Amino acid sequence: MNYRHGFHAGNHADVLKHLVLVALLDALKRKDGPFFVLDSHAGRGRYDLAGSQASRTGEAQGGFLRLPPGAPGMPPALARYLEAVAETTLLAPGTYPGSPLLVAHALRDQDRAAACELQPEEAAALKTVLAGDPKVHVHQRDGYAALKALLPPKDGATRFARGLVLIDPPYEAQEGEYPLILAALNDALQRFPQGTYAVWYPIKQRPSLHPFFRKIATLPAKSALAIELLVRPDDSPLRMNGSGLLLLNVPYRFDARLAGTLPALAKALGEQHPESRLHWLRRPA
Ligand SMILES: C[S@@+](CC[C@H](N)C(=O)[O-])C[C@H]1O[C@@H](n2cnc3c(N)ncnc32)[C@H](O)[C@@H]1O
Repeated sequence: MNYRHGFHAGNHADVLKHLVLVALLDALKRKDGPFFVLDSHAGRGRYDLAGSQASRTGEAQGGFLRLPPGAPGMPPALARYLEAVAETTLLAPGTYPGSPLLVAHALRDQDRAAACELQPEEAAALKTVLAGDPKVHVHQRDGYAALKALLPPKDGATRFARGLVLIDPPYEAQEGEYPLILAALNDALQRFPQGTYAVWYPIKQRPSLHPFFRKIATLPAKSALAIELLVRPDDSPLRMNGSGLLLLNVPYRFDARLAGTLPALAKALGEQHPESRLHWLRRPA
């Protein structure tokens, strides 16, 4: 396992993923009942944008660092994302938050989360970042196995009726990751059918995604939505031309909440013919 997210932190894919994550967490917080978040591939939680890894690729320059600071008239979901990043980095300027830090920041007293990271150094760093937060448990373990072990979610006597599962693997096996994701989702949906699931995916060549999407559409979820941001046309096999998030059991009117934001994001982060898409693989009944 060679992947280190520090080389990619704050890039256009992180911006899309974390903007959607913040919007999903906000949707869960519209009700008072407790919720549980499971982050299966969590990373180290905080990234130094001036550090050696981020500096080597400069990917954040084409992502988070390209976004204008909060300005009047900004689409609400983009403003909320920028606010969440600012709040989680207030005491660590020059850093960028990973998904478990954004999750931890969003939790209320009644909510809980688990963050899984397989790579020992990354898991140790994440434990340091989240030390002192009793609401989040960090596990150094395989995220797919954790889905089996930790769903349906509970914490002591509390059983959670609502929740979010984020699956954000590094795709070192490229298309070989798809069967692992499908098997994990199929099993998780039996254990926790009402949960919302968010799966990140890279976009290189569009046709390789079609069989994966067809199988996603057959999973036993109430709805399935693909949310995509392309910074250049999706025909280069060598580069990540964009990325997407597949949502299963999509919150009510979530597409409408993002509709105005995605074109603004594509305009801000795009290189050549940028594009954003909201595509239902299965519409809610
Ligand atoms: C794309 S990064 C995660 C980024 C993080 N979700 C975020 O948004 O800030 C993927 C992470 O998964 C870890 N990883 C790889 N295989 C794993 C597995 N089977 N289970 C859990 N973590 C794994 C990698 O070490 C890496 O830190």
